[in-house]
This record gives sequence, C-alpha cells and structure tokens, in this order.
Amino acid sequence: MTVTTPSAAAREGVPAIRLRGATRTFAAASGSRYTAVQDVTLDIDEGRFVAVVGPSGCGKSTILNMVAGLMEPTSGTVEIYGERLQGINPRAGYIFQQDALLPWKTVIENVMLGLILRGVPRKEARAQGMAWLERVGLAPFADRFPYQLSGGMRKRVTIAQHWVTDPDILLMDEPFSALDVQTRQMMEAELLAIWSGSRKTVMFVTHDLEEAIALADEVVVMSAGPASRVVGRYTVDLPRPRNLMDIRMEPHFMELYGEIWSRLREEVLKSHERSRALGRQ
Ligand SMILES: Nc1ncnc2c1ncn2[C@@H]1O[C@H](COP(=O)(O)OP(=O)(O)O)[C@@H](O)[C@H]1O
Ligand SMILES: [Mg+2]
Repeated sequence: MTVTTPSAAAREGVPAIRLRGATRTFAAASGSRYTAVQDVTLDIDEGRFVAVVGPSGCGKSTILNMVAGLMEPTSGTVEIYGERLQGINPRAGYIFQQDALLPWKTVIENVMLGLILRGVPRKEARAQGMAWLERVGLAPFADRFPYQLSGGMRKRVTIAQHWVTDPDILLMDEPFSALDVQTRQMMEAELLAIWSGSRKTVMFVTHDLEEAIALADEVVVMSAGPASRVVGRYTVDLPRPRNLMDIRMEPHFMELYGEIWSRLREEVLKSHERSRALGRQ
C-alpha cells in the first residue's frame, strides 16, 4: 500500500497565492514615504492564469516582487499555499521583460543552470534541459550562445530555463513587451500550450489589455498610483484551447475588452492627470 501525504496545494480552499492587505511604501526624495500599493487583497487559486493590468507606475511589479519574496510588504502579508512567505519564494519562477541569459554560456548550459544549482547531476540536468529545448523547438541551437539567437528564440530559452525547474508558480512581468507583434503572438501561443498541460499558477503582469484577455482566466485591474489597489476582477470565460491568431476578433472577446477597458481607462486617465500635475510643480 502506498501512503500519499496530501500536499499543501491539495488542501481544499487554500489559494496558491494570497495577498492580504499588502501595502508597500518607499522612501521618497523629500524624506517622506511614497505608498506604491495599498491594502491589496487578492487570492489566486492553484492552476489559474491571472493577468494583472493597470496604468504604468501603479505598482504591478511591486506586487510581483512581493509574491516573489524579493521585497517584503511594509504591512499586510503574502501567503503561498497557506504559509506566510518569508524571504525568497522557493515555489516561484520569475520571468522579466529583459531575458536573464548568461551571455558566456551556451543555450543548453543556460537551461541547465537552475538544475545544477539545485544539485542535479550534470548528465541528468543536460537530458532534462535538452527535453525542454526540444519542446520549444530549439534543440538544434543547444550549443549556440544567446547573442546568436533572435529575441523570440532567447525568450523561448528563458521559458525552457524556468519550466525545467518545475516551479508551482510562474511570475511574469511584461515578458513579451520587447518582442515584435508577430513573435509576441507566437510566444503567447507557446506559453499557453505549455501551461495548459500543467497545473501551474501564473501571475502575468502586462500593460496590454488585449494580451491579458487573450491569455488569462481572470484579469485584475489596479488603480492609478499612489496607493494603488485592486479595483476590478473580471473572469475571462473564453473557451480553451484559444486560437490567439483570431481571438481578438471574436464578439465575446470584444465585449470583455469593452467592459474591462471602461474601468481601466478611468485609471489610465487619472494616472496621466497626476503625472501632468506633478510635471507642473
Ligand atoms: N525600489 C523602489 N524605490 C522607490 N520607489 C519605487 C521602488 N520600486 C518602485 N517604486 C515606485 O513605486 C511605484 C510603482 O512602481 P512599479 O511597481 O514598478 O510600477 P509598474 O510595474 O506598475 O509600472 C512607482 O511610482 C515607482 O517609482
Ligand atoms: Mg513594472
């Protein structure tokens, strides 16, 4: 008989990510404190793909940093699978806009790195890394260096690099913003294809509402800063698998876009007004 211990993840009703009243302030130039995000309360269930949108500078990256454990909330808490996060979040991978490949290492060495750091023997790490390079169509480029690849290919290496270590949570901060439109759509489709076969929880920050709706199960709208908070949560009930080439033209997509944009637009306008007012001071 095998005895299985239910993981924390399997416990009923425990979200993968829980922010409770999370507030983060920063020292401002004047010696006062600037409140970037205030009282952010948000539960994200395991396996969900949640997109976070909001005006630029509202605090989206700050929230991801807190969930990654790179930054502590000034007050409030972050819980990961029901446990209060202290220090780096060991269950999360973090993908940024700029890829973080080491230029002096080959593609396969970059992909293996996370496994090597976890003590996986080289041979095993290489085999797992190669399997992921196959998966993202880059096996023939395993021995190239990052500078020999296009932006889209480097992004695929980054995805392989993170997926190979099998994190339960993927935090993505505008990961495709620097790519041209076509490459970007291809990467979005690949991301969905890989994610759909997993139970990974994704928190995806983007300033692009179309991208948010096309990818996510839910779109969270943040208000203009300072003291940004969650002002809307919208379920994206578009069926999966999604055809990202055409989805933006579907009537229900447009309906959702109209509904969410009307909320986001208010915040974008507020944000513009506030930065113009600051410019006049
Ligand atoms: N380390 C920091 N020190 C001081 N201010 C910061 C720091 N990080 C972020 N901020 C400020 O907090 C606000 C939110 O920033 P950020 O989370 O990067 O916004 P977003 O990702 O939504 O564009 C901004 O006004 C930014 O200047
Ligand atoms: Mg940001």
